[in-house]
Amino acid sequence: MKNINVLPSICYGGDYNPEQWPEEVWYEDAQLMQKAGVNLVSVGIFSWAKIEPQAGIFDFEWLDKVINILYDHGVHVNLSTATASTPAWFVRIYPDSLPVDENGTRLSFGSRQHYCPNHPHLIKHIKKLVRAIAEHYKDHPALKMWHVNNEYACHVSRCYCENCAQAFRKWLKKRYHTIDELNERWGTNFWGQRYNDWDEINPPRKTPTFVNPSQELDYYRFMNDSIFNLFLAEKEILRELTPDIPISTNFMASFKPLNYFQWAEEVDIVTWDSYPDPREGLPVNHAMMNDLMRSLRQGQPFLLMEQVTSHVNWRDINVPKPPGVMRLWSYATIGRGADGIMFFQWRQSRAGAEKFHGAMVSHSGDEHSRVYREVKELGHELSQLDGLVGARIKAEVAILFDWENWWAVELASKPHNKLSYIAIVEHYYRELYKRNIAVDFARPGDDLSKYKVVIAPLLYMIKEREDENLHRFVKNGGTLLMSFFSGIVDENDKVHLGGYPALLRDILGLCVEEFVPIAEGQSNLLQVGGETFECTTWADMIRLEGAQALAVYGEDWYAGHPAVTVHHFGQGKSVYIGTHPESRFVGQLLEKVLAEHHITPPLEVPAKVEVQRRYTENEEYLIIVNHNGHDVQLTLPKDRNYQNVLSGERLHGVKLTVKGIDVVVLKEDKN
Ligand code: GLA
Ligand code: GLA
Repeated sequence: MKNINVLPSICYGGDYNPEQWPEEVWYEDAQLMQKAGVNLVSVGIFSWAKIEPQAGIFDFEWLDKVINILYDHGVHVNLSTATASTPAWFVRIYPDSLPVDENGTRLSFGSRQHYCPNHPHLIKHIKKLVRAIAEHYKDHPALKMWHVNNEYACHVSRCYCENCAQAFRKWLKKRYHTIDELNERWGTNFWGQRYNDWDEINPPRKTPTFVNPSQELDYYRFMNDSIFNLFLAEKEILRELTPDIPISTNFMASFKPLNYFQWAEEVDIVTWDSYPDPREGLPVNHAMMNDLMRSLRQGQPFLLMEQVTSHVNWRDINVPKPPGVMRLWSYATIGRGADGIMFFQWRQSRAGAEKFHGAMVSHSGDEHSRVYREVKELGHELSQLDGLVGARIKAEVAILFDWENWWAVELASKPHNKLSYIAIVEHYYRELYKRNIAVDFARPGDDLSKYKVVIAPLLYMIKEREDENLHRFVKNGGTLLMSFFSGIVDENDKVHLGGYPALLRDILGLCVEEFVPIAEGQSNLLQVGGETFECTTWADMIRLEGAQALAVYGEDWYAGHPAVTVHHFGQGKSVYIGTHPESRFVGQLLEKVLAEHHITPPLEVPAKVEVQRRYTENEEYLIIVNHNGHDVQLTLPKDRNYQNVLSGERLHGVKLTVKGIDVVVLKEDKN
């Protein structure tokens, strides 16, 4: 996928809500933005009620003024379509546009995102509004990007109202054609759930006990599609009126209800919002989400659309980022493929639920505050990184990730009902992260030929042809690492027959006869030659069918049974991990596999130092982020010439010191 450069520089700015302030503050804002090197702001995100104060009456005067002031100060606009919250007048006309929860309770107006995606009048009003905004601003030189809606589904990811019930039936009819097919796919002979007529089917509202899991899974799909259709409707209008302006909507990365791989096919550039808790220190999950977001469009650089300068308002205790950390984490994001660092929000709100959320400018508007100073310094630094815009990352390792699998594996009534898909994926990711090994995420059906190693944690669902894809990958010389409880069900959550994991038994050279979950707080041992490791959570009872045991269980009634196996298949091999081993085991296993494929980090560095390499056609950049509080010394390869981009210094020696909580960006001239 080709690069989308919103600006020729790293985008820098944030959400801007000028309607919360009197006009004189707009001038002050624009000046402060200019001083801070801000070049892009997201405007109008919650402005539907202000832009269309009454149905069909539009007021652009205030927004014209705002955008002109911004433009005069060199600030471009990521213009929102303002559809994130329906106005009070809309709710008064259509009270049934308010969403209904699984218990039948209708939610109220008074916060935000209070709409049912399937309300028949919603889409009509959205289209009118979006057309009016796009017509009005299509030729404005400040317009650089469209910000559609905002964090779709962040509060209301599901509605169970009558409009949704009707739309669900239509969606099912399109998917299954006949009621017999639906009965078959959903396995409705279980508990006498057979349907004779589409009208008998409802959303999975509150039921006496476990709802049909296939119905629940399809409701995930249906709600994702319902909300996606709202996006597509807006996109169509924007594309028609402004064919050259990139269109995006901000994702939330590990947000379960929306299948972002599907969404990413329809945005021009991925943008996402990230709020790691400073109390947790090293943001491994943030790194993982950066890699996931970059992978959604096959490595195309993305924008970090929202992060906070200091602290949020929505945790129990909202600890600020200490000095330097906002900058540090911004570079960590750039290292993983971001071409933009943006914030929520520009100026701290005076009123409303987010008035104690941090911002680039505080309530006081003080230019000398720590936060604004850091904002300004970062803005100036980033303006020196134009050369990095569009640079890509090359990864030889991929982790398989699939939203539908996530939905299915966390449905109720499993052998173990506390499995977290994200946590198990992260367990494997962390070992690559710690070793600075570049990693992409991919869907199980994607082309895997550019990878040497593919990791499949908890890939419970294997859909049609995905098994063939994995066969091909291993046959052609790849190494597949697969965890327990993989390859168990089809796309409807029906068990694949033929012994677990039926479709993958030949690649893995084994059969899983029985699942033995391990109770919380308990563990078993993994024995590998003379070494012992801990394992928790799960123990597969494996029957070898060609694979060899790499590790056996050490305790309990299954002591001595194979726990981790390896099997050669075609030119490649597969490693099956029938339990949840401690990190040390995963790390050692990965090190062996990486060494076999000659996969190395860009530099050897001490712990808690991130190094990522980004490539343009003629240059290579190393982004080095020291998360330690102390200085570290690095050794650069002797045969290369680097330039420190931020200081301009040429590095002839091979030793480099990176200060504690500091960053170095090196450019290597390939010529
Ligand atoms: C989300 C929203 C913003 C704001 C921030 C607060 O990211 O998109 O409007 O509410 O959270 O952290
Ligand atoms: C009860 C019910 C059965 C079955 C079992 C499962 O005993 O009568 O239909 O659901 O629970 O444990």
